[in-house]
Amino acid sequence: MKIIGTGSALPALRVTNDDLAKFLDTSDEWITTRTGIQARHLLSTEDLYDIAVDASVKAIKASGLRPDQIDFLLVSNVANLHVTPGLSAIVQKRIGLTCAGLDINVACAGFVNALMLADGMMKAGHAKNILILCAEEPTKYCDWKERDCSVLFGDGAGAVVVTEGTAFKDVKLTMISDRDVLYYERGMETTPFEKEYIKGQPLVMKGKELFRTAVSESAKDINALLKRNGLQHGDIDWFMLHQANKRIIDGIRHIVGGPDEKYPTVIQKYGNTSSASIPIMLDEMIADGKVKAGQKIVMSAFGAGFVSAACLWEWEF
Ligand code: COA
Repeated sequence: MKIIGTGSALPALRVTNDDLAKFLDTSDEWITTRTGIQARHLLSTEDLYDIAVDASVKAIKASGLRPDQIDFLLVSNVANLHVTPGLSAIVQKRIGLTCAGLDINVACAGFVNALMLADGMMKAGHAKNILILCAEEPTKYCDWKERDCSVLFGDGAGAVVVTEGTAFKDVKLTMISDRDVLYYERGMETTPFEKEYIKGQPLVMKGKELFRTAVSESAKDINALLKRNGLQHGDIDWFMLHQANKRIIDGIRHIVGGPDEKYPTVIQKYGNTSSASIPIMLDEMIADGKVKAGQKIVMSAFGAGFVSAACLWEWEF
């Protein structure tokens, strides 16, 4: 499998830390030093479906394929307005696709998990050209009266078109079942047989625990991936890590090794855009000419579950 087209889309509204400090008990200094985030983009005039379609259309255009040549649509999304139908069904026609699709929810690790599924589908002969779309609006499940979660997230969409090739070398997935570390509950209808109305619960996060687990498990995944492929950190050109916190990225780097320049970031501009963070960053790096054929690239992400996932590429165009 290889990636032949990328696209991304951010909402128009850019909100800085100082903008947040106007209505939350927070400061640019606190957010910047604890997370590296300076700004994020929030959905306001457009909706998630608009940016999902925008990123997808750009990725298909960049791939040089026509929409009717896409065999399958694989969508990563944690939550959106619709519990059903899935996001893939909502955006399929607007992207100009007629193929089947499915949605996955592996939290912020959704992109790497989708890559693993796409690779397996290709090897099994189910599809040749697959559009992977990661579209997320985590700002819609934060409590905006509280400062602990709302300052961390941003909305965004990233998409890639994958086709047959040999660039995708290996993948490692981890799940440690622990709902309490990070969760969001949507309200549900109540049957006449229940005592209590089941109301929703905005995002709850055990920040310090999540921080520690993210650093240790991501580093473990990456080191295992390097070891079983006979590689050292110095052999890797880019470590494209999930953009949740610059200090988490630094923590992983201290264990795995390598200079800061090999760990690119977009978190300062976009905050944590969940599973969209790696494909958005990849799209920008390709546009900037930073990704070149033959480079070895590690992608690694973690999120609610607790889940983490890492994969290895030897880049082909
Ligand atoms: N502005 C100002 N103060 C804030 C704040 C904000 N936005 N959010 C929390 N605080 C306060 C807390 O109330 C707490 O105050 P207290 O000490 O009086 O109780 C204090 O800051 C905690 O600070 P500190 O211990 O320095 O926080 P931290 O180093 O653990 O950083 C996180 C907090 C959330 C940035 C960090 O734990 C983290 O990034 N965790 C992982 C989050 C994540 O990645 N989530 C998504 C996963 S996909």
